[in-house]
Amino acid sequence: MRDRASTTAEFVCLMRALGPDDPYAGRLLSRPLRRAERVWRRLDAFGVPVDAATLGLRTLINARHRFIDEALNDALAAGVSQVVLLGAGLDARPWRFADGLAGRTLFLVDHPATAARRAARTRRLPPVEARRVDVDFAREDFGDALLAAGFDPDRPAFFAWEGVSMYLDRATVEAALRRLRALCAPGAALAFDLWRPDAGGWPVRSVVALSRRGMALWGEPVRFGLPTAEVATFVRAAGFEPARVEVPAAGPWSGLTFVSARPAPVPG
Ligand SMILES: C[S@@+](CC[C@H](N)C(=O)[O-])C[C@H]1O[C@@H](n2cnc3c(N)ncnc32)[C@H](O)[C@@H]1O
Repeated sequence: MRDRASTTAEFVCLMRALGPDDPYAGRLLSRPLRRAERVWRRLDAFGVPVDAATLGLRTLINARHRFIDEALNDALAAGVSQVVLLGAGLDARPWRFADGLAGRTLFLVDHPATAARRAARTRRLPPVEARRVDVDFAREDFGDALLAAGFDPDRPAFFAWEGVSMYLDRATVEAALRRLRALCAPGAALAFDLWRPDAGGWPVRSVVALSRRGMALWGEPVRFGLPTAEVATFVRAAGFEPARVEVPAAGPWSGLTFVSARPAPVPG
C-alpha cells in the first residue's frame, strides 16, 4: 500500500452502509461516498440491480463482516480478554460491539495514514476506549508494536484480519500469520479472509481483472490470493487449525475465502 489512507477501507465501509448490519458505517463515510450511498439507495428503490451489476460486492462484503462478527461473538462468549482489529480501516465494531467489548482491551492496528483518517472520521461517533497501533505490515513487526501498546501474549485474544491479506505479498502474509501464532495464548482465535484468484468464469474474470487495475491505480494492488482448496494447508503451515473455511454464495463473483482458526498446539 502506498503511504496514503486506504481507499478500499472507504469502499467496504460504503458497502456496509448499504448493508443491513452496520448502522454506524454511513456516519464514517466521506462526503462524496455519502452521496454515492444516497444514489445507490435510490437506484435500489427503482429496482436497478446495482449489486448484481457490481458482481455482488455489497453482498460479499457484508457476508465477510457477518462471518467475522460470528467468530468475534464466539470468542467473546469463550472469554477472550483482548480484541485486535488488524487493518481496522473504518470498522465500526467498537460501537457495534460496545457491550461485548466492555472490560476487554481493544487494539486498532492499521497503516498510519489510514489510522489518521479513521481518527478524524470517528470523532463523529461517541468516544470508545481503544489503543491505536500504527504500523505498516509490509515494513514493520506489528507484533512488537502490539506488545509495546500493552498487548498481553499470556491472555487469550481474538484477532480479526479482514480485507487485508490480499494487499500484502505472500511472504508478508505468511510471516504475519506466524507472528500472530506467537501472540496466541490458549483460547485465542483468528478470523480473516483470502482472495480467490480462481473465482468466477468468463466474463466475470475480465471484469475483475479491470477492477484490479483500478485498485492498483489507487495504490492498493491485489498481491496475494489462494485457491480455496489450498487454504487449510496454508493456515496449518502457520501454526493454526482452521475451524471454518467458507466461500460465500454472494453472486457472480464470490472472490473471497473466509477463514476462522485457532492456534494449533505446539508439537512436543
Ligand atoms: C479493505 S480495507 C479493510 C478495512 C477493515 N478491515 C474493514 O473491513 O473495513 C484494507 C485495510 O488494510 C490496511 N492495510 C493494507 N495494507 C497495509 C499495510 N501494508 N500495513 C498496514 N495496513 C495495511 C489498510 O490501511 C486498510 O485499513
